[in-house]
Amino acid sequence: MLRDSDILSQIMSRAPKTSLARDFYTSAEVFDADIRLIWAQDWIYALPSVEIPKAGNYVTLEIGDYSVIVVRGNDNVIRAFHNSCRHRGSRICQTSKGSNPKLVCPYHQWTYELDGRLLWARDMGADFDPSKHGLKTVHCRNASGMVFLCLADVAPAFDKIADMAARYMGPHHLEDTKVAYQSSIIEQGNWKLVLENNRECYHCSGSHPSLCRTFDDNPNIAGNGDGIEDPAITAHRDRCEAAGLPSEFHIDPSEQWRFVRVPLLGTAESYTMDGKVAVQKLLPNMPIKNAGTLLFFHYPNTWNHFLSDHILTFRVLPLNATQTQVTTTWLVHKDAVEGVDYDLDRLTEVWMHTNDEDRIVVEQNQLGINSPAYTPGPYSELQESGVIQFVDWYTRTVQDRLTGRKMMAAE
Ligand code: FES
Ligand SMILES: [Fe+2]
Repeated sequence: MLRDSDILSQIMSRAPKTSLARDFYTSAEVFDADIRLIWAQDWIYALPSVEIPKAGNYVTLEIGDYSVIVVRGNDNVIRAFHNSCRHRGSRICQTSKGSNPKLVCPYHQWTYELDGRLLWARDMGADFDPSKHGLKTVHCRNASGMVFLCLADVAPAFDKIADMAARYMGPHHLEDTKVAYQSSIIEQGNWKLVLENNRECYHCSGSHPSLCRTFDDNPNIAGNGDGIEDPAITAHRDRCEAAGLPSEFHIDPSEQWRFVRVPLLGTAESYTMDGKVAVQKLLPNMPIKNAGTLLFFHYPNTWNHFLSDHILTFRVLPLNATQTQVTTTWLVHKDAVEGVDYDLDRLTEVWMHTNDEDRIVVEQNQLGINSPAYTPGPYSELQESGVIQFVDWYTRTVQDRLTGRKMMAAE
């Protein structure tokens, strides 16, 4: 049985720039601490707002043992609630997405308005006060079309993220897109292995033949630096900035989130097998085709690509110590017509391949770590600076919160 003090001492005795000890990837107690200290405290990316375009559209998310409903109200506001009935606790929404004019618990039909108020409960007696039994709310913010939620009682500040999202993502007009396709896969690996794998391209040449046609595995692009020493990157950035697309490297002082626009390989315009755009109708008001990709990560659970012709959002949710759900959403101009402006297979094939290839490397990584013979190994500072940055953020965050050293800044 690992206690918090054991987790803390493993963090404090960790050799720098090496992978984490086995417990961090395998133990149920560390997983519980991750949920308690990170997932139930920080802002979590939930969905693109256009995934629930109409009143009553909802999505449910599982975060460890938490289940959350994100639903669009009749007033067009997107809200989030704990998916647990205020009668005897049943799940209310039992599918991963759907649409309902009201939220009705299937057990005894307590009926909630889309804003969480309890409207109707049968035979509860004269003393029963429905206003005291509304759904429990979860913090919810819409950052230029990316909806985030926070399970904490008091959520950390969000305005800075929202401001930067408006600046960088604004020109891609996420709220004027539609979902062309969504895939959700379960990877048999700890959530940190999924994030670590995303934060390096050391593995790309060996694993991603489709992606490597258009994504440059140059560590200046895939790593944690600002690529300032690479003239091709800075020239691309200057060209995009001149076209009105904010591009410079920006990482928050907390190192929890970052925006940067990077070029694709050679003359590539998009993530397709031939490098040409996948969608003939570019995103609304997009000034240039070869804008590369705007990268946005926010720990613990999202990385994203904003191209000239489509947007890819990635959402990671931890199910248990060794299972993680990864949901990818492809978004195109809301007026783009499948079969006319784009072919769905062509749009999705590179990242469908890439996600499956990443699933395999993460699962093999997990299996190797499960062996008692595993010991932490050294990261490449040249190739894995992004992994070092992520793991340092993770260990610093857990350590600070376990010791109570840093209080989170409230809104
Ligand atoms: S548990 Fe929901 S109505 Fe009874
Ligand atoms: Fe990968």
